[in-house]
Amino acid sequence: MAAALGDDAARAPAGKQVIGLIFGPPGSGKGTQAGRIEKEFGMSHLSTGEILRSEVAHGSAVGKEAARIMAAGDLVPDDLIDRIVESLLRRTDSSSSVLLDGFPRTVEQAKALDRMLADLNRNVDFVVALDVPEPMLVDRLLHRAAVEGRTDDTREAIMERMHEYRLRTAAVLDHYRRIGVPVAEVDGVGAVDEVFDRVRDEIKRVLEGKPQARGI
Ligand code: AP5
Repeated sequence: MAAALGDDAARAPAGKQVIGLIFGPPGSGKGTQAGRIEKEFGMSHLSTGEILRSEVAHGSAVGKEAARIMAAGDLVPDDLIDRIVESLLRRTDSSSSVLLDGFPRTVEQAKALDRMLADLNRNVDFVVALDVPEPMLVDRLLHRAAVEGRTDDTREAIMERMHEYRLRTAAVLDHYRRIGVPVAEVDGVGAVDEVFDRVRDEIKRVLEGKPQARGI
């Protein structure tokens, strides 16, 4: 999964492999930007949404439990998602840098992640939070619905996903600010490459130990 570091990519300090989070509301471009971050910084991309969609497609027990919840735009239970992430992190080579996408999504998940990482002698090194106005998010997701037909891209499920984000997920950023993890808020409006330029600059700043342009 992890790509080799590009020649001009910023590297983590020698021997230090990082854990980063790509964060933001539904449709903000987390998955799109994660693919680019993965290539640029040689991080393993771990998306809980993709993992769950694959479980649903395979008809596994987890998939059967998650399918209806996801289609309605609700969050699957914390303990189920925590178990999935913990087992993947335990299997991840400790020399890998990891980019989490879609997790944690509640303060409880964030605290569970802190405990999992402490057991592995690791911690969250940075959070990149994409900021996009809600009407634009809805437009992007309705457009994707027409092209890809994702089951949770109906107008009703999109509204529920936005509601869950505001109610339970947005507070995760304050959790990380409180415990001193660098949080970079990045304008997610513009062409994908333009947004990536901003994201890359913020991650480089963190990896090189420079102060951030925005956020914290
Ligand atoms: P998940 O898959 O994480 O969905 P999401 O957060 O709703 O995010 P999306 O995948 O819709 O959007 P994105 O921000 O990744 O943007 P993308 O790059 O795709 O989770 C799905 C569900 O799984 C949840 O609702 C929940 O039920 C469950 N789940 C997952 N994790 C969970 C957890 N931890 N706890 C509990 N439940 C969990 O882009 C969106 C669209 O916009 C695309 O069409 C893209 O091409 C386009 N786009 C991207 N960037 C731009 C740009 N700059 N300009 C124009 N268009 C753009």
